[in-house]
Amino acid sequence: MDYKILNQTQENGIAIITINRPKAMNALNTLFFAEMNSMLDEIDSNKNIRVLIITGAGKTFVAGADIAEMSNMNSELGTRFSRIGQNVFDKIEKLPFPTIAAINGYALGGGLELTLACDIRIASTKAVLGQPEVNLGLIPGYAGTQRLTRLIGVGDALYLLYTADMISADEALRLKLVQKVTEPEALMETAMKIATKISRKGNNAIKQVKNVVRKGINLDFDKGQLLEAQVFGSMFDTEETKEGMSAFLEKRKPKW
Ligand code: CAA
Repeated sequence: MDYKILNQTQENGIAIITINRPKAMNALNTLFFAEMNSMLDEIDSNKNIRVLIITGAGKTFVAGADIAEMSNMNSELGTRFSRIGQNVFDKIEKLPFPTIAAINGYALGGGLELTLACDIRIASTKAVLGQPEVNLGLIPGYAGTQRLTRLIGVGDALYLLYTADMISADEALRLKLVQKVTEPEALMETAMKIATKISRKGNNAIKQVKNVVRKGINLDFDKGQLLEAQVFGSMFDTEETKEGMSAFLEKRKPKW
């Protein structure tokens, strides 16, 4: 067992998961998914957590699914391996609070798919991103075909999927695949700054932004608007919203 996730829950409600499997460039294997799954359950049930940051230890974010493990699979095991990864990444996407991928190096294949399940992606100038599965005679198996297409559009997604190009952080920024690029030394500080900024907003409001955006994207526009109106309305009964608006009118910072 050479797989480890370090979890440090900080006082301001920011959790950090660091993927750490240096021998295989943090490649994702069955053990990873089992550990990640229980860690996510723990994080989800911790009411103090407001933002989760996921990063990689060392110079790599994640170099993909574990090719050595996959090389022994048949079609049944391959489908199962795909479904296990999809379910864990779905769990990340469905966490009730914001998630940030801090991409410190290679984010390839399953590694890029992991970042796609997060809400925001920040990349160091040393990051290299891509879906190189076709080089192995494979396609992405952890929803890359679905999330990448929805995030950056069909043309750019198919370009990356067909060519297997490994792109720089700046190119990823141009494609809106990442939201920010930083110097390598500033990556975690930048992720923490964004997380801290988010953690100081109304907690329920932040969770509802995620809820309405994430649900709404799968609804038609009118249903999405209806959902927005219902959630917007429900907030008027909360102390958080009352305090937020009173604080503005009384020209002071909200106390929440
Ligand atoms: N799985 C298993 N082992 C991996 C790995 C992976 N995805 N990526 C790297 N490694 C291992 C290498 O086998 C090597 O191990 P040894 O030292 O024991 O030989 C070690 O990590 C270092 O790798 P390299 O020597 O290749 O390092 P490099 O600096 O020359 O190259 C790299 C780095 C460009 C990331 C290269 O390792 C690479 O191309 N890795 C594979 C990337 C890839 O194809 N990812 C997609 C996987 S498929 C997938 O993810 C499917 C899915 O969606 C479910």
